[in-house]
Amino acid sequence: MAYLMGIDIGTSGTKTALFDETGTVVASHTAEYPLYQPQNGYAEQEPADWWNATVEGIRAVLAESGVPAGAVAGIGLSGQMHGLVMLDERGEVLRRSIIWCDQRTAAECEEITQRLGYDRLIAITANPALTGFTASKILWVRNHEPEIYEKCRHILLPKDYVRYMLTGELATEVSDASGMQLLDIPHRCWSDEVLDKLEIDRSLPGKVYESPEVTGKLTRRAAELTGLAEGTIVVGGAGDNAAAAVGTGVVRDGRAFTTIGTSGVVFAHTDRMAIDPKGRVHTFCCAVPGAWHVMGVTQGAGLSLKWFRDNFCGAEKEAAALMGVDPYYLMDKEAETVPVGANKLLYLPYLMGGRTPHLDPDARGVFFGLSAIHTRKDMLRAVMEGVAYSLNDCMGVFREMGVAIDDMMACGGGRDQRPLAADAGRPVRLRRQNAGLP
Ligand code: XUL
Repeated sequence: MAYLMGIDIGTSGTKTALFDETGTVVASHTAEYPLYQPQNGYAEQEPADWWNATVEGIRAVLAESGVPAGAVAGIGLSGQMHGLVMLDERGEVLRRSIIWCDQRTAAECEEITQRLGYDRLIAITANPALTGFTASKILWVRNHEPEIYEKCRHILLPKDYVRYMLTGELATEVSDASGMQLLDIPHRCWSDEVLDKLEIDRSLPGKVYESPEVTGKLTRRAAELTGLAEGTIVVGGAGDNAAAAVGTGVVRDGRAFTTIGTSGVVFAHTDRMAIDPKGRVHTFCCAVPGAWHVMGVTQGAGLSLKWFRDNFCGAEKEAAALMGVDPYYLMDKEAETVPVGANKLLYLPYLMGGRTPHLDPDARGVFFGLSAIHTRKDMLRAVMEGVAYSLNDCMGVFREMGVAIDDMMACGGGRDQRPLAADAGRPVRLRRQNAGLP
């Protein structure tokens, strides 16, 4: 029997899973790492943490499953989008990665719009300049850390840094490259016009593939470190959301999914490119060659609940450790005791700025309507409801754009927190009245 390995470079950790030929998970492992926030609105991670977590994950799933290295037929990569990894001429990392939820680049977004012109920017990259996207992060380093920019020879996205460490290849694929704002989205290749106008050297971004293409083979060094066989193939893979689309069967018109990880996303497949003229949802190439998707993003979705857990739920954490369950399971039980509407308490989940439908890097979280009747449980429920309302805003934009959705899946950590369910984490189909479908 042959096996396939999937590695997802997430924001809270890297998940490695080994699948058999029928698609059944035979082993999985998650290795966590920190998120650095040196200033309000800043978010950075250490590429070495992603690589160490990958090595740990591969070794763990091979050991747990007992599958011999030679039986792993190929590896697919997915990961958090938009993060900027800069390498010098020796392939060494030059600074911590500025990741997707970092909001420091408002001035650089204005610079991008001025250099390209709003209409050309939308025509080529299908999106307005956004603080989350990679191009503004590149310009920020050039404007604020010229000595680092000077040394930069290669620019990679998070999962593509792991690809580089596995294979030695400097490459990406269209779905993740779409979020760099350097790609010609209609033609699925780097845009010379954007690179020229932004004065970014053509040699900086790696080769761009379609998602299912083979991008390289495991080096001897990576094989020694991970326990995999030298020469194991690594395919393009996809940005985390485009990869989730394949996993949930969202690969043709009418299909959509919603997911809650650190961010929350509503994603719809489109065979023909559709652009929101106000730029409130993104239009990107998807993992299906020749097709696109639209997606709305809530920056602080799972992040909001994790923030609430870490700051206000010490008791649940302790109880969960004693009971051998996840603290989120106990938090779910508490939230269930509060009526729908959280006794008129509202939460806005903009802890890391806004994206859909408010393109505002300076937006911040709010509890609105606090009264003396409210307890911590109301606040917990309000956090969950606030994230759901924010995801519903994405549906509102899709409706305005005429993107028809008749099937909505749910996946990601926010889908289900049952403590011991055998199918926990599997995608589920949302019922029509719960999915917010028209
Ligand atoms: C998508 C986005 C996030 C990240 C992190 O545009 O910024 O969903 O991919 O998961």
